[in-house]
Amino acid sequence: MSERVRVMLSEEEVDKRIKEIGDQISKDYEGKQVHLVCVLKGGSFFMCELAKRIDVPVSLDFMSVSSYGSETKSSGVVKIVKDLDEPLKDKDVLVVEDIVDSGRTLSYLLEMLRDRGPRSLRLCTLLDKPERRVVDVHVDYTGFQIPDEFVVGYGLDYDQKYRNLPYIGVVELD
Ligand code: IMP
Ligand code: MG
Repeated sequence: MSERVRVMLSEEEVDKRIKEIGDQISKDYEGKQVHLVCVLKGGSFFMCELAKRIDVPVSLDFMSVSSYGSETKSSGVVKIVKDLDEPLKDKDVLVVEDIVDSGRTLSYLLEMLRDRGPRSLRLCTLLDKPERRVVDVHVDYTGFQIPDEFVVGYGLDYDQKYRNLPYIGVVELD
């Protein structure tokens, strides 16, 4: 069986949208410093591109979580594999994610980060699959709402592959 990737969102479309979100964030955080928290590994490609498009002062931190569950279905119980290097107290924190699916991972994570006392806490995701939502999560910035299909590229993987694709695609088996 061979795998092919069908393009869902082209590199140009994704880049254009990231620039728009960057402009919006720059307006919303005018006069402030925004502290981007990247959820590894998926959020890393989006975060780098987004950070370049923000023109207020930016600081970055990274965390890695694993949800107990299979690759394609998260349980919502999140284990911190790598924690942030810096405290969030009094920072304007913007969590940057690749995709919100069931919402379980994010709702757990946001609650945990809120306990650390940031001045503000918002969520930015490149992709959102609203049809799949099980737990309510407030998303402040969304790149694209997409249908319920398993996507890869721009940081998103299928079995650790395809993260490096510069577009968003759907894996097709034939
Ligand atoms: P949630 O807790 O169900 O919202 O899970 C979100 C996580 O599941 C994301 O951060 C991704 O790592 C993974 N995920 C969900 N949907 C996809 C997809 O279509 N492609 C690749 N990874 C996905
Ligand atoms: Mg993720």
